[in-house]
Amino acid sequence: DRSIKIAPSILSADFANFGQEIQAIESQGADWVHVDVMDGHFVPNLTFGPQAVKAFRPHVKTVMDVHLMIAPVDPYIDAYADAGADVLTAHVEAGPHIHRTLQAIRGAGMMSGVALNPGTPAEAVAHLLDLTDVVCVMTVNPGFGGQKFIDMTGKIRALREMIGDRPIHIEIDGGVDPKTAPLVAEAGADVLVAGSAVFRGGSVEHPEVYGENIRNI
Ligand code: DX5
Ligand code: ZN
Repeated sequence: DRSIKIAPSILSADFANFGQEIQAIESQGADWVHVDVMDGHFVPNLTFGPQAVKAFRPHVKTVMDVHLMIAPVDPYIDAYADAGADVLTAHVEAGPHIHRTLQAIRGAGMMSGVALNPGTPAEAVAHLLDLTDVVCVMTVNPGFGGQKFIDMTGKIRALREMIGDRPIHIEIDGGVDPKTAPLVAEAGADVLVAGSAVFRGGSVEHPEVYGENIRNI
């Protein structure tokens, strides 16, 4: 039973064809669509903002999982709610008031996510669990696709322990591929983000490659 969800990251998609790429990965089995927002400040890269995410929304039939690699977060929460984000994930490292940020995300009607960089311990979310729908464990240092997987299985197990029977997803983000996916699934992850491992070798003209790649993860 494939209780593991695959969330392809459109950071690895063709930046001139997001609408078609989103339709392609969803038709090929994507469970969520992972949207990487980068501000060139919190991470050394810049992608797109609320207006672009709003343009993606009509093409997303599943779940639009928006990963904010930005600081500060709070001034933009309403803009991403208006853009139609289903899940809005903020980095615990993005500022001093993550507790309030998660309250505000839920208050704006979205599922709340908190992301942990590789150097941040699982305990950072100990007092956030009742405000959290998704814990996103970074297995690369954020900013780029196609990076090498950093083993965080110990942190994933610790989180599974802390979460107990709360309905919280553990999402893994970075360097997930057919080799690393089993490791993180076994440790307790249930949503796997994959950018390069899904988009490699395919295109909007050859979406069947996306389907093959998704099934191999
Ligand atoms: C990195 C992003 C990830 C990235 C994953 O900062 O948050 O979602 O796009 O890409 P891969 O799967 O290629 O590591
Ligand atoms: Zn991401």
